[in-house]
Amino acid sequence: MVVEAIKAVNSPAIVILGANGMLGHALQEVFPRAKPLGHTAIDITDDASVRRIIRANQADIVINAAAYTDVDGCEEHEDLATAVNGHGPGIIASACADAGAVLVHYSTDYIFDGTRRNYREDDAPNPLSAYGRSKLLGEEVIRKNMQDYRIIRTSWLFGHYGKNFVDTILSLSAQITQVKVVNDQIGKPTYTVDLARKTPEVLSLEPGIYHITNDGVCSWYEFASAFIPNATPCSTAEFPRKAKRPMFSILENTKTFPLRHWREAVREYIQSKKAI
Ligand SMILES: NC(=O)c1ccc[n+]([C@@H]2O[C@H](COP(=O)([O-])OP(=O)(O)OC[C@H]3O[C@@H](n4cnc5c(N)ncnc54)[C@H](OP(=O)(O)O)[C@@H]3O)[C@@H](O)[C@H]2O)c1
Repeated sequence: MVVEAIKAVNSPAIVILGANGMLGHALQEVFPRAKPLGHTAIDITDDASVRRIIRANQADIVINAAAYTDVDGCEEHEDLATAVNGHGPGIIASACADAGAVLVHYSTDYIFDGTRRNYREDDAPNPLSAYGRSKLLGEEVIRKNMQDYRIIRTSWLFGHYGKNFVDTILSLSAQITQVKVVNDQIGKPTYTVDLARKTPEVLSLEPGIYHITNDGVCSWYEFASAFIPNATPCSTAEFPRKAKRPMFSILENTKTFPLRHWREAVREYIQSKKAI
């Protein structure tokens, strides 16, 4: 397993799609010899380009971190969400199957409705939002179009090079006296760096679905309170958003070793921001 993971990390026959996103950047650090491709280099909804690029790079492994991730935006633009998050992964999967390449794809806790609290990899999904529906479609078409896939579901991502909760809250905390943060949505924050570092190991495991998050469970309010002094709890009802979110979306990892606790990860992330 370790040998396979090391081989993957050092392989030049890897392409990273969505390489300029938050997770894409972290993946580039972990796979330094991979070919990073941003949105301007490839549109994952364009079948011909996807096939051409996988062929041209003689890819053995395709890592797809490209997605339309604006959860409220997806509610207004469901067609775009379906194209990028639903059909795009199907195109990539079909091209990978033809090229004999492995696909690593990232999905989300938002495919679940939150009524069950904890979710194992084989629990039945029931998305509440357009984003969740589009990401679930992405999973389904991958499973239909190929065998050698790793679908990694994750949640509440934070990291460099992207709009994320930690940065938003830090900035609000410096501007206003009290930052209201919802205390009744419960999930698992995950640092992009930790998720990216775990990816080679998942690649070395059997095809299938994996739940990979940092360890520990919290509300958004508890998460914010770990790194700002002026958070104050509020309810989801006080903070209406376009897209409905699951109240509980705790991804249970039953297949591989857990990552470190989110508290340690967020401490490190904030330290690394100060160093930049
Ligand atoms: N962020 C979270 O909290 C979270 C939680 C759970 C799961 N995930 C999943 O984790 C993965 C990575 O998320 P992230 O937060 O790193 O996303 P991100 O920062 O929004 O990055 C996504 C990248 O995909 C690109 N992209 C969008 N449409 C594309 C298209 N049609 N073709 C090619 N590239 C396209 C975007 O480029 P442009 O910006 O130029 O359009 C962006 O660089 C996604 O699959 C997401 O669904 C994220």
